[in-house]
Amino acid sequence: MKLLFIGDVVGSLGREMVTEYLPKLKSKYQPAFTIVNGENAASGRGITEKIYKQFLQDGANMVTMGNHTWDNKEIFNFIDNTKQIVRPANFPKGTPGKGLVFASVHGKEIAIINAQGRTFMPPLDDPFLVVDELVEEAKKRTSIIFVDFHAEATSEKQAMGWFLDGKVSAVIGTHTHVQTADNRILPKGTAFMCDVGMTGPYDEVLGMSKESVIKRFQTSLPVRFEVPKTGRKVLSGCLIEISDKTGEAKSIQRILINEDHQFIAE
Ligand SMILES: [Fe+2]
Ligand SMILES: [Fe+2]
Repeated sequence: MKLLFIGDVVGSLGREMVTEYLPKLKSKYQPAFTIVNGENAASGRGITEKIYKQFLQDGANMVTMGNHTWDNKEIFNFIDNTKQIVRPANFPKGTPGKGLVFASVHGKEIAIINAQGRTFMPPLDDPFLVVDELVEEAKKRTSIIFVDFHAEATSEKQAMGWFLDGKVSAVIGTHTHVQTADNRILPKGTAFMCDVGMTGPYDEVLGMSKESVIKRFQTSLPVRFEVPKTGRKVLSGCLIEISDKTGEAKSIQRILINEDHQFIAE
């Protein structure tokens, strides 16, 4: 089966890209399952129920999150009533939502795990320990397992990729918002990529207004990062082909759509 993953959707421009291009990507690549990272979908900070439903309407089957999961308080009203949102699994016990979710696809089950790194990020439980336990749990039901590892450091992401090689179908990084060109299949059959990249404002800094980010760097004063609502847009993603029988990844390709080069797929 083919699995499509779209990286961190930032603000209204990011959502517009999903609405415009997800149906086109689905008809071009025919993925059996589509996952969208939505941690920045509501003005760069969290997600609302309306936006979550729009992602599903656009063709997403699952929404993963990250360090911005709780930024929009609306999530507390619906996260426990949905089966299509996964938040980082290594938040403390008792946190709303789930870090491992199962879905059915083509008569099979797919397990989706979201975890957050700890290097240059707020302290959380050990993602290696937590993911290891969840993979064991998932393995009882399926060999098709997708991990969105939301982390800052490429070293931590590579370490997670190698840690899970042969145990899961894919370990794909999110959070840094810049697509990396290291997509590969690790020796034991796990698709890996440090960061899938972001979807949203193209001529800004990680989707936030470049003026506000420059001002923060220049002055070190607290500056509110605004997400531009107009301007050029980008969509970043990847397409992974997975064996239905073994859960092994066969291929992983990058997808990048921007307004200079429509539809770049490597
Ligand atoms: Fe993000
Ligand atoms: Fe993030």
